[in-house]
Amino acid sequence: MSLNLKEAVDSRRTFAIISHPDAGKTTITEQLLLFGGAIRQAGTVKGKKTGNFAKSDWMEIEKQRGISVTSSVMQFDYDGKRVNILDTPGHEDFSEDTYRTLMAVDAAVMVVDSAKGIEAQTKKLFQVCRMRGIPIFTFMNKLDRDGREPLDLLAELEEVLEIESYPMNWPIGMGKGLEGLYDVYHKRVELHRPEKYDGERFIELNEDGDIPADHPLHKDSVYTQAMEDVELLTEAGNEFSEERIAEGKLTPVFFGSALTNFGVQTFLETFLQFAPKPSAHKTLAEETVSPYEKEFSGFVFKIQANMNPAHRDRIAFIRVCSGEFERGMDVFLERTGKKFKLTNSTQFMADSRETVESAVAGDIIGLYDTGNYQIGDTLYSGKMKVAYEELPQFTPELFMKVTAKNVMKQKSFHKGMDQLVQEGAIQLYKTILTEDYIIGAVGQLQFEVFQHRMLNEYNTEVILTPMGNKTARWINEEDLDERMSSSRNILVKDRYNQPLFLFENQFAMRWFADKYPDVELKALL
Ligand code: G4P
Repeated sequence: MSLNLKEAVDSRRTFAIISHPDAGKTTITEQLLLFGGAIRQAGTVKGKKTGNFAKSDWMEIEKQRGISVTSSVMQFDYDGKRVNILDTPGHEDFSEDTYRTLMAVDAAVMVVDSAKGIEAQTKKLFQVCRMRGIPIFTFMNKLDRDGREPLDLLAELEEVLEIESYPMNWPIGMGKGLEGLYDVYHKRVELHRPEKYDGERFIELNEDGDIPADHPLHKDSVYTQAMEDVELLTEAGNEFSEERIAEGKLTPVFFGSALTNFGVQTFLETFLQFAPKPSAHKTLAEETVSPYEKEFSGFVFKIQANMNPAHRDRIAFIRVCSGEFERGMDVFLERTGKKFKLTNSTQFMADSRETVESAVAGDIIGLYDTGNYQIGDTLYSGKMKVAYEELPQFTPELFMKVTAKNVMKQKSFHKGMDQLVQEGAIQLYKTILTEDYIIGAVGQLQFEVFQHRMLNEYNTEVILTPMGNKTARWINEEDLDERMSSSRNILVKDRYNQPLFLFENQFAMRWFADKYPDVELKALL
């Protein structure tokens, strides 16, 4: 192992920001990029809601994606660290890719709107992070607006997400009355409007953990309230523990306002201090590969088609797990044993794509793909012969029946279907009795992308018939009995031939569970 490789790997901090739409993920990402010097002005990361976003208009989606997709991975240097932020799209873009992106990061930042608390999408994404046992950092945003009581927000974190929390700082007032943050960790108060006082942004705390008694803020009721809360938390709250943070059992909580850029830099600096560097990755053989291993290896966690309408290309995103990637190097694709020369690699920035010359464990590279890669594929150089663990499948919630409009196009229909399913763009099921095709997704946009790509890449017009939301549950093959199928459930097989039921709703599922108590019903993630 060369010393440089170790140094380079240790400087990497690779994470995703998760949130419910509108909590402020884009705004905070922009602030982080500004601090990192990766962009020069706000508004670069995504074309803000233009008001003319037509969901059915794929060109429009692409136009939007032209911007948002290049920001799939954003890299900048800060404080001697190389920061990689992976985007996890919310809104209409939400798909299985969003979940899979979380398989490629070492930590997650959860942005919460402090007026709303924990919302549905955050909860789902949080569960995936939880399953991976990665550290989760919380940013309670929009403190410049009147929100919920900070103690309530902490209680909700613990109750709804079942994670311990430790406030790294504490709001002094909120909304129009926001005065600052009592920074427990740095032992200082950070002022929201320093110009209101003597212009200094920070006030150091004395030995009693207090600001000087002659400071005008000292007498302010919001300060007294904050001090009372902090005292309560010191006595009754959780203890700070780096170990528990690393295990994902305790989330450090930061308060702030991304829009007014308050508390974001403090968050970034503290986060970088505690966020983990790249660690060893598990293989199928239940071994681990050190990130300092000199041979290159990595896995495909996302395949994105049509990223640029002008190129109609497809890009496979690789998380580098070990060694150093160099442009032009030879690698093996583990699944086929085939050797490739990696000349067409790309790295992503907020406003442009750049060719990447080298990358180390922790980094994400994009490879131009002509159909060679599948989600979960391992690539390696030299004699490593490693296969990384399979990526989990996620339980789809939305389903459509799918048929080719022109029956003469069966061949290209099946070809497109096979390819897109392998790529992980959509999940495919067949009804057991009639062999009808059903596709499943976690986000509506996946269907639109599927339909569009079938037409454009496989020249096949498909008819999608909505089946609505269903609750999918897998059963053991030995329990399979076609008589269990009824009007409230559909019995299908997945692409690995595993049987499952698509229940009309939770009631239908419970009714089934009562009737067949011995049949085990299993959900994916
Ligand atoms: P998202 O990526 O999580 O979906 O959220 P985004 O950053 O786009 O923010 C959603 C809205 O919330 C935006 O307003 C944004 O300006 C606002 N916002 C973000 N952070 C803060 C904050 O700290 N305080 C306040 N008061 N607002 C915040 P919008 O009106 O929907 O969009 P825009 O037209 O202003 O961009």
